[in-house]
Amino acid sequence: MADLTLIRAEDNIAQICISMADARVNTLQESAIEKMSALLDELEQDSSIKGLVIYSGKKDCFIAGADINMLDQCQTAQQAQALSEAGQKLFKRLSKLPFRVVAAIDGSCLGGGLELALACDMRIVSDSPKTRLGLPEVQLGLLPGSGGTQRLVARIGLMKSLDLILTGKQLRAKQALALGLVDEVLPKDVLLNSAMEYAALSKKVKRSSRQNVSETLLNSFIGRGFLLKKARQQALAKSKGHYPAIDAILDVLSVRNMSKKAFTTEAEQFAQLVMTKQSQALRGLFFASTQLKKKREDANDQAISQVWLLGGGFMGGGIAYSCVNNANVAVRIKDIHQSGVAHAMAYGDGLLQQKRSKRHLSRIEYDQIMARYSGTLDYQGMGKADLVIEAVFEDLKLKQQMVADVEHYGREDTIFASNTSSIPIAAIAKNAKRPENIIGLHYFSPAEKMPLVEVIPHANTSEATINRTVNFALRQGKTPIVVKDCAGFYVNRILAPYINEAARLLLAGEQVAKIDHALTQFGFPVGPLRLLDEVGLDVAAKIAPILSRELGKRFTPPDVFNHLLGDQRLGKKASKGFYRYDHAKSLNQADDRVYDVLDIRLNANLTDDEMAWRCVLQMVLEVCRCLNEGIVQSDRDADVGAVFGIGFPPHLGGPVNMIKQLGAAVILDKLALFAKLYGDRFIPEADVVNMIKAISAPSVP
Ligand code: NAI
Repeated sequence: MADLTLIRAEDNIAQICISMADARVNTLQESAIEKMSALLDELEQDSSIKGLVIYSGKKDCFIAGADINMLDQCQTAQQAQALSEAGQKLFKRLSKLPFRVVAAIDGSCLGGGLELALACDMRIVSDSPKTRLGLPEVQLGLLPGSGGTQRLVARIGLMKSLDLILTGKQLRAKQALALGLVDEVLPKDVLLNSAMEYAALSKKVKRSSRQNVSETLLNSFIGRGFLLKKARQQALAKSKGHYPAIDAILDVLSVRNMSKKAFTTEAEQFAQLVMTKQSQALRGLFFASTQLKKKREDANDQAISQVWLLGGGFMGGGIAYSCVNNANVAVRIKDIHQSGVAHAMAYGDGLLQQKRSKRHLSRIEYDQIMARYSGTLDYQGMGKADLVIEAVFEDLKLKQQMVADVEHYGREDTIFASNTSSIPIAAIAKNAKRPENIIGLHYFSPAEKMPLVEVIPHANTSEATINRTVNFALRQGKTPIVVKDCAGFYVNRILAPYINEAARLLLAGEQVAKIDHALTQFGFPVGPLRLLDEVGLDVAAKIAPILSRELGKRFTPPDVFNHLLGDQRLGKKASKGFYRYDHAKSLNQADDRVYDVLDIRLNANLTDDEMAWRCVLQMVLEVCRCLNEGIVQSDRDADVGAVFGIGFPPHLGGPVNMIKQLGAAVILDKLALFAKLYGDRFIPEADVVNMIKAISAPSVP
């Protein structure tokens, strides 16, 4: 139910308060648009009104965007175009009201929300850290379709607009002010009153020109052509042509700003984009992650206010930071060496200093966050720990010892969450007195950045422990998927065959850089060999035997790791891996010495497409096995895990969505061909064939 209320306040100033019933945030649903239109009818006919303020009744949210469900209901491009035109018409009417309209913005003002605000005469925003402005449509494979492409450029010029529209980035209040997107930043308490005062002034708003000479030139007719060409080249280099929204946005911006043709092109291109499979895939991922971000209701869920972290090493530093900075909880780092404690704190300090240097963090906020850190070399005070996250060395005996220590020094209800990357949680919990408190909480590196965590209950983990752990991961800003306790869990299990196939390509004589290029062209953010360098070949070499022991021969990697480790090639951390790190100039170059170490004679003869599909199909087969075995609970979790954990190309929506979009026949034909050319590992088992067919079968409503 939409809820827009028209209030006639003092001095003939009207207010529209937006507050959607039964929702945490405001979105522009169809009903809200109809209601807004009705309110405009009323305002247009009332000559006593002297000004209007639009504000939100929700905490920390002005309008989070248009309701994307509306788009999924569109069967044809014509229907999508009608939605766009309705939005354009509404905001045009808003902009033409005969009195001054002020948007008083506190909290998120995104997508359709910002398009609405741009149609107002003034935008004043609160200085709350929750205030964010942006046009994130491109991240859903779309463009702002309610006049946003036009009014943004009219307001801040083409150059700054390109950066906002093509990336979908969100601005804080002060950044928005510096860009000229908003008129004033004010403390929250005075926002509405100030908006009322501004609304009483005349319609015409004086603007100071914020453009410098080079911006003026670039925004001129000649400069525009240059700017758009450059933007197209840069965007294409990044998107590899997988994201049609980028071209569409640039096409719209090529038409004369604010002209009738520009609005028509915006609506037409918006409609075309809604129907693309890329946008459908990206919207699917958005829905999936929104669902996964819902807090679990649990009557016994006591808030976690003190976390202990065992092991302040590589992973510990990032995990601790996510605790103090995102979850806002105190974290006590326990290590056996003072250097471990110091490392984790210094890591967090470094990240916060970066924010300070960008002025995203005040001195007081910095002090408050740093004060949440403490360190220790013993267990004194562990009785206060609600949750212990374990990130010590990957060693079963050591992890079991950690369980025993925590059961001894902690409370009865202290949760023990292990960040193991490969050891089954049941094995870690084997000798536990309170196995119900033990769970896996698997982060990805770098832990403060990567959005995914795997939550892994073993057979005896209690429901309360699962719920509390999921809720804590959400507080850290993570997207949690609950997966079954097995070797490699889900993400590493589907990653391993993909990496192994890349290693086979290498041994067959394909070049390091070409293999990686093939996969980045396919849409992965980095290629498999560079990924190995980043993660560390020693880490991969440790996991591989566990996977092949537990899951079978298909996980046995080709004979690559041992030789490279023998040559001290641990990857980036050792400044020696598949790539060179010994000189700034050679940083991105593959290290040709790898071929000698592996005794490879170069014999490149495969296309990018063949190489990419070989790796991707190995991953796809494993995803299907995981679905068959219930390792992941749903297609949704399988896709989110692959995209957020590995960087599976988002425009494909994840491996399951890719099978759906391409159809079983395409996948099975490729597998049959590759089986003939490259071996039996491409022959799917009968239940995998069934899974592929089931995924691509049209769903029965
Ligand atoms: P690391 O070697 O960088 O850090 C381990 C830390 O644990 C060291 O500071 C060490 O002093 C400390 N430690 C050892 N014994 C301890 C004890 N008894 N009590 C307290 N602290 C102790 O290791 P890293 O890479 O951070 O890995 C930690 C865990 O995270 C491992 O289980 C690993 O499999 C897992 N993991 C690693 C990932 C990676 O990319 N490196 C990714 C995901 C999980």
